[in-house]
Amino acid sequence: MIFLNGQFMPIEKASISVLDRGFIFGDGVYEVIPVYSRRPFRLDKHLHRLQHSLDGIRLKNPYTTEQWSDLIGQVVDKNAGDDQSIYLHITRGVAKRDHPFPDVPPTVFMMSNPLLPPLPESLEKGVAAITASDNRWIRCDIKSISLLPNVLLRQIAVDAGAAETILIRDGFLTEGSASNIFVVKDQVLLAPPKSHLMLPGITYDVLLELVAENHVIHEVREISEDELFSAEEIMLTSSTREIMAVTRLNEQSVGTGSPGAMFRQLHQFYQQYKATHMRGGLTC
Ligand code: PDD
Repeated sequence: MIFLNGQFMPIEKASISVLDRGFIFGDGVYEVIPVYSRRPFRLDKHLHRLQHSLDGIRLKNPYTTEQWSDLIGQVVDKNAGDDQSIYLHITRGVAKRDHPFPDVPPTVFMMSNPLLPPLPESLEKGVAAITASDNRWIRCDIKSISLLPNVLLRQIAVDAGAAETILIRDGFLTEGSASNIFVVKDQVLLAPPKSHLMLPGITYDVLLELVAENHVIHEVREISEDELFSAEEIMLTSSTREIMAVTRLNEQSVGTGSPGAMFRQLHQFYQQYKATHMRGGLTC
């Protein structure tokens, strides 16, 4: 069951106009919210980031936080599976094709997909990544549905048999095509600082909170291309992939070529944190 403009319906029954500005211009924003044990994970943070994206494209939020919370709860209830991934999408609505903003209601769409844990093999062996030049626009902090650059960048990885493309802009690491990236250098965990050049990941925040709580030595600072290539460990995070070790970069081993000690520790912290959430011990 999906949600479209105020109604719940089977996905086969859902349709939108070909004049929708999401279809014509990619004029909209989205969120992906993981749900564990039927409870949305860090919902307040996702809704906060949604507001930031809407502000960034000057589109009024159609719902209050309470209304979103209720609607997302209903999408979860109407779909099977304890663990789900809720995709939420808002466009500037349907209007005759013309660039300026029309005065029409937005299109609001939500669907649920099963949220599958990372494959045991990926956790055991890590995944491969390749690097590419970050050729996206400079408002990557907006979770825009205009994902053509991300799609093209991700396909480079797929074509090379890799799981992610790690992006470099002006000699510095920004993020992955659909994930944030962490690096271990001289046994210090490094994370690039939030800016308009990367999406402020919700999983990125969880990880930084967990390392601070557990006194893991870390720095949030710019990471050069050289540091990326000489890293002892590389990790990616996202709502759908959680945390994964990148053990091959551009067909070279990263560190020992196996998931490292930092990854094992952070993965454990993350699983413990999730378990607390699933038992209802966290409000977020
Ligand atoms: N993508 N950076 C980019 C460009 C992303 O697309 C994503 C997530 C992230 C990680 O953010 P978070 O931890 O909040 O999921 C970073 C989602 C999962 C997607 O587009 O499907």
